[in-house]
Amino acid sequence: MPKPKVVYRLAKRLDCGHLEELNQVALPVFYSRFEWESMVSMKRTYLVTVSAELVGYMACNTDGCVISFAVAEKFRRKGYGRALLKYGLEELKKTGIPEAILRVKVINKPALMLYEAMGFVVIQGLPNYYSKGDHGYLMRCPLSLKIGSTSFSIKLWR
Ligand SMILES: CC(C)(COP(=O)(O)OP(=O)(O)OC[C@H]1O[C@@H](n2cnc3c(N)ncnc32)[C@H](O)[C@@H]1OP(=O)(O)O)[C@@H](O)C(=O)NCCC(=O)NCCS
Repeated sequence: MPKPKVVYRLAKRLDCGHLEELNQVALPVFYSRFEWESMVSMKRTYLVTVSAELVGYMACNTDGCVISFAVAEKFRRKGYGRALLKYGLEELKKTGIPEAILRVKVINKPALMLYEAMGFVVIQGLPNYYSKGDHGYLMRCPLSLKIGSTSFSIKLWR
């Protein structure tokens, strides 16, 4: 059987329907088609496809803030999240942005482990950020270093 074709690239307006669908099933915070079109127009939304099927996306703004990041459930734990994050951070670096930042739920261990493995560090605790008792972390990844360097940060609620 031929190997499936894996493509990492910038998202286009035509991808918005699939981005919206994946966002809705993968995360509790989701964006409308209009918001996706607006994000994609900033040219900082990256995605990975396998045989033209959307596997995951990393949507950022022009300041390097990761607004939304997800891999479709059936493709998880296969390395796509790590590879997409690396690709997206390298693309952000090329735009001259000094750092990437993101917010993540304290209880989201898969995402936290991945972000730390890719060089993000916790810079602030965000008590009750998502809802009462549902805390968050603000994380930062300097883009001047080699992308993918492991980091160490102190957790407030671990
Ligand atoms: C977080 C997410 C993007 C990871 O994508 P993925 O493709 O499964 O990740 P990878 O296979 O590349 O795994 C990379 C690393 O992440 C961590 N990880 C991923 N899934 C994990 C899990 N279920 N449990 C523990 N660690 C996990 C591990 O450190 C893993 O490295 P390893 O395979 O060497 O152990 C995916 O779980 C997802 O889409 N979750 C729902 C949406 C979400 O939470 N987005 C983040 C919002 S801030």
